[in-house]
Amino acid sequence: MRRKIVAGNWKMNLTKSEALSLYNNISSAENLAADVEKMIFAPLLFLDALKQNESGLIKIGAQNFYSEAAGAFTGEVSFSQLKDLGIRYVLVGHSERRVIFKEEDELVKAKVNAAINAGLKVIFCCGESLEIRETGTHISFVVNQLKNNVFQLPEEAFGQIVIAYEPIWAIGTGKTATPEQAEEMHEQIRLAVAQHYSNYLAEQTPILYGGSCNAGNAKELFAKPNIDGGLIGGASLKTANFIQIINSF
Ligand code: PGA
Repeated sequence: MRRKIVAGNWKMNLTKSEALSLYNNISSAENLAADVEKMIFAPLLFLDALKQNESGLIKIGAQNFYSEAAGAFTGEVSFSQLKDLGIRYVLVGHSERRVIFKEEDELVKAKVNAAINAGLKVIFCCGESLEIRETGTHISFVVNQLKNNVFQLPEEAFGQIVIAYEPIWAIGTGKTATPEQAEEMHEQIRLAVAQHYSNYLAEQTPILYGGSCNAGNAKELFAKPNIDGGLIGGASLKTANFIQIINSF
């Protein structure tokens, strides 16, 4: 059985008190599916306070970090500073980082390597734009992202990776991929992992869907054999919605 994971990506939202109360409301909810790993990727500024409040039920991760341990990198936060706070999970390769903040493959790969070498667990995001989907090259585009950003890892290190397929055209747009579109891509991602590493690793690797996943569509998406959970943006900001998504398997 593969791990099932539902992760909230709060992005650049909430005040500190809102973040703490949302976290506490979610973690104190009754009837949270016990067999689903639950994570919150919060703004860096609130990680320390959240960590001090952390319940064993919901892990806390960072949305971003820089690939050097320390030095003259004004405005950045390093993977070793995150480790020092007790953070164990990081997002890498999110399309908002790639598109808005111009993170290219080289930096994404450096971040993946730095995080894994530091013993952090990586949720690696990939996904195509609408233009690419319309040309019919979305599968090879996403497989190339894997080749360029994570397939350099040795087999054991790759075992620390969770993949999140997030088609850019579905993020924050209310336009979700259909369960069939998502399943098709997840199957191809798993095949690429099998071809590059092994069938065993492909079977073990959780592949999450992200992009306008919400309480209304999570059940249908998570019912697909290759969809192991979700990376949830907007719908993770409301306690009831996020809980319903966690309980959608
Ligand atoms: P969304 O964001 O659920 O708001 O579409 C998902 C993500 O960007 O991780």
